[in-house]
Amino acid sequence: MTLNFVDLDAQLQKSSPFTIMEYALAQFPNIAISFSGAEDVALIDIATKIRPDVGVFCLDTGRLHPETYQFIDEVRRHYQITIDVLSPNGEAVRQLVSQKGLFSFYEDDHKECCGIRKIAPLRTKLHTLDAWITGQRRDQSPGTRAGIAVIEDDKTFARPGASLTKFNPLANWNSQEVWDYIRAYSVPFNALHERGFTSIGCEPCTRPIGPGQHEREGRWWWEEATKKECGLHGGNIGGQRCPALTLPL
Ligand code: ADX
Ligand code: SF4
Repeated sequence: MTLNFVDLDAQLQKSSPFTIMEYALAQFPNIAISFSGAEDVALIDIATKIRPDVGVFCLDTGRLHPETYQFIDEVRRHYQITIDVLSPNGEAVRQLVSQKGLFSFYEDDHKECCGIRKIAPLRTKLHTLDAWITGQRRDQSPGTRAGIAVIEDDKTFARPGASLTKFNPLANWNSQEVWDYIRAYSVPFNALHERGFTSIGCEPCTRPIGPGQHEREGRWWWEEATKKECGLHGGNIGGQRCPALTLPL
């Protein structure tokens, strides 16, 4: 039996994150969770209930908050999992900071630095996988994430000649639902969340938000909302959805 991605997405739209995760893990042995060190820890809690040794990786940009490093290690110990902590290419970082300094993103924009510290290591990692799982949600950004699918055919990071499937099991949950889950199941969380940080990225590019501000307003606050996708989820820009493709069930 085969279903196309659009049908499958429509079917999974009505499913809980747990069901989506079950489906993803059953279909793809070679799959991993992309963990940012924020509330996407809910993904790890859900996945380890299904597959205790689920693959997890973090993009260690070298610029994360100390609290995030502490938290990543806490998660590793709590769930007794191996976390693949990916570093950027040292020579590329050296060239960037030698030529443009440590805060070039405030002057031009964040794309070059994110390209070196996040996108290149992500691409290398994704070329070893058949599928990946992210914590993206529709409510995170009305401008860029309102249209994200639960399952996508990821053309951006697929290795040549292969396909890569991207799952967003939390797409249908809002922030409140994620936090209800975290509290209900005593899931550990990043200490920054108790200090006004909702969305957490790199330290120089993240600040707490005030009342009435949308959660991603504290990310790359000097840039317009539509440019706030660092490239990990570049397909979101323009509300792009997955094209129809067949997937064995
Ligand atoms: S970002 O593109 O703006 O940085 P965001 O912080 O909203 O992304 O996180 C959305 C999802 O992207 C996370 O749930 C996670 O799956 C993935 N992600 C973001 N940052 C990282 C990171 N440093 N390491 C691994 N995955 C990440
Ligand atoms: Fe560099 Fe900021 Fe992007 Fe982190 S979020 S990789 S510090 S531009």
